[in-house]
Amino acid sequence: NNDFKIAVLPGDGIGPEVVQESVKILNVISEVFQYKFQFKYGLIGAEAIFQTGNPLPDDTLELCKKSDAVLFGAIGDPSFDNNPDAKVRPEQGLLKLRKELGLFANIRPLKTYPSLIEKSPLKQEIIEGTDIQIFRELVSGIYFGEKFTEENEAYAYDVCRYSREDIIPIVHMAFQEAQKRRKKVTLIDKANVLDTSRLWRKICREIAQEYPEVELDFMFVDNAAMQLILNPKQFDVIVTENMFGDIISDEASVIGGSIGLLPSASIGESNALFEPIHGSYPQAKGKGIANPVASILSVAMMLDHLKLEQAANKLRESVEHAIENKYVTIDLNSKQPYSTAEVGDFIADYIKFSEKSYYN
Ligand code: IPM
Ligand code: MN
Repeated sequence: NNDFKIAVLPGDGIGPEVVQESVKILNVISEVFQYKFQFKYGLIGAEAIFQTGNPLPDDTLELCKKSDAVLFGAIGDPSFDNNPDAKVRPEQGLLKLRKELGLFANIRPLKTYPSLIEKSPLKQEIIEGTDIQIFRELVSGIYFGEKFTEENEAYAYDVCRYSREDIIPIVHMAFQEAQKRRKKVTLIDKANVLDTSRLWRKICREIAQEYPEVELDFMFVDNAAMQLILNPKQFDVIVTENMFGDIISDEASVIGGSIGLLPSASIGESNALFEPIHGSYPQAKGKGIANPVASILSVAMMLDHLKLEQAANKLRESVEHAIENKYVTIDLNSKQPYSTAEVGDFIADYIKFSEKSYYN
């Protein structure tokens, strides 16, 4: 099968701008490698609320369910961030989409690029050669537990709940990934305080028996927050619950030099979604300064998922070529910045002209 249905959800803020570059890249890839991508666009987030009153309209959900992959931009808008009373919020659209599609595993790879080492505020010798895969559980925990605000707002709560079934699949994925890598899994938790964390530990220990060649390590999340920037090279595969994963992945992005570089894949039984880990960055909206690399690298993860590894590798090589040649946006080169579209064009052209088969 060389024909793929891609649901495109640009979303809010810089989402549409970065997704446009990703679509550009997919079009070039289809030309060079002879695949067919059918793009269908859907509304989500603040944009969807403004137009329909619903952060995830039914037809968007249907579109995603029927797709081979979802390409997602970003979500969030200051008019909601500044209004805690808003009952309908953009983020609910993404959370519902993750839940409805059963996207239980959010994979966030992190590595350093030699030419960007000095962009990180951390010391070169500390971060050089870092290569981490974060596996963040995405459809359970405190994000999805019971929520309540008492009438007179005297108190509120959010319940963190995990079942065995919620934990087992992502832990297996993490171990399988570690087997292909440096054979170490670190569970980040708060097992000295939380019952849910103790359940995670128990299950990780059980599952580790099935992967005798992989070392299993535990780390409390507060210590992990420190260790990540003190000695990031100690980590290979990290597995963690939903909220810890959200927090430490933003922290970890400092190692790479810009959050604008980091892609992610959200994988379920029968659907998959690909999105940058960054947010909607409303201050940059429409200015053409957003870094498209996180979205473009999410496309590489999409190509891997669709088993188009050759194209995925070519795309990663092209992104590296752009970065090594300082063809980057203002977050990575303030002296001679290129625009969002220029970076996209550069990567697209490199794919085209470096691929010999294109001339045959
Ligand atoms: C992310 C984002 C989301 C999350 C928000 C927008 C709901 O921060 O994908 O990391 O918290 O999961
Ligand atoms: Mn986040």
